[in-house]
Amino acid sequence: MNRAVLGVLVSGRGSNLQAILDAIQAERLRAKIGVVISDTPGALALKRVAGFDIATTVIERKKFADRRSFEQAIAAELQLHHVELVVLAGFMRILSSEFIGHFPGRIMNIHPALLPAFPGLDAQAQAVRYGVKVSGCTVHFVDEGVDTGPIILQEAVPVLDGDDEHSLAERILHVEHKLYPRAIGLFCEGRLRTEGRRVIITEKR
Ligand code: GRF
Repeated sequence: MNRAVLGVLVSGRGSNLQAILDAIQAERLRAKIGVVISDTPGALALKRVAGFDIATTVIERKKFADRRSFEQAIAAELQLHHVELVVLAGFMRILSSEFIGHFPGRIMNIHPALLPAFPGLDAQAQAVRYGVKVSGCTVHFVDEGVDTGPIILQEAVPVLDGDDEHSLAERILHVEHKLYPRAIGLFCEGRLRTEGRRVIITEKR
């Protein structure tokens, strides 16, 4: 079986990118990172792949007249590297439906809450403020909305009495690093079938 080619979009720290890289290195994930694209120069994420044979590119929004041409540059770079699955890993921008149309059913995101609770920014702080006893993370396909696409995997973590957004974020992040490579692996094995809002995980062939 060929390795599916991933294009990873990042903006910052890149700990999920690191987890994906580690899973590939350990042969827990049969995939290949074709390109890492950052919208932020100097992002720590870019340093994580230095020394590997992985293309990296910085594509900054401010270098383009509008969002459309910015997104077109990203799509062109992904296509250049024959990317089969676009992985958003802490990429801090909302993608237009035109961009999504280039990769139908082939863009994934990870969100640090149990969707549909607490979409958008600062999900962990939202959870602490709300007073929920359980939060977690969600891997989902990306659609036109903000964190609204069909859910692939979710895992819960407890919210403890002494938590602030930082301690909760850390507990969730630990789970993110297992869940994201697992969801990507299911895609690469052709085991995800979307029926409306539901993502069915099929048996291993
Ligand atoms: C993670 O919490 C992820 O759920 C959210 O952005 C954060 C990215 O962290 N989408 P990192 O850059 O992967 O370390």
